[in-house]
Amino acid sequence: MIRKTLIAVAALSAFLALSRMSDAQAAAAEANYKFYCAQCHGLEGKGDGPNATKSQPVSPRNHTNTVEMSKLSDQDIINVIKGGGAATSKSTMMPPFGKTLTDAEVAALKDYLRKLCKCKGN
Ligand code: HEC
Repeated sequence: MIRKTLIAVAALSAFLALSRMSDAQAAAAEANYKFYCAQCHGLEGKGDGPNATKSQPVSPRNHTNTVEMSKLSDQDIINVIKGGGAATSKSTMMPPFGKTLTDAEVAALKDYLRKLCKCKGN
């Protein structure tokens, strides 16, 4: 009985540690988004940041657009964040972040974008 309880407690604390870790990752992704992406994509991801002016040839992607964002696979999102528009035949207005952000940070940003669009990749 005591043993079973101990195992349950151990499992529960492992679970709590894991979920706390992903909370921390999500918070870091949001902070990174606000720092690196919001200037163009907007604080809420609507593609309306201060650098998104009408004089620019392309608008930054609206990350809350479910239809548009559903067209991108998870790998597409990761590629465009790491390599920028140039690497994915999109506008070079979208800068590459492969040297600025770690793979883990890019993956967490991808998850953050999926939350903004409330969508999955194809
Ligand atoms: C200097 C402005 C700028 C910044 C900063 C920027 N973007 Fe972009 N982003 C763009 C533009 C412009 C496009 C649209 C490119 C196109 O449609 O040709 C775009 C497109 C995208 C797309 C869609 C690509 C596609 O294939 O449709 C994703 C995803 C994206 N950006 C993510 C990010 C993330 C994440 C960050 C921060 C790490 C970021 N962007 C920072 C300007 C920017």
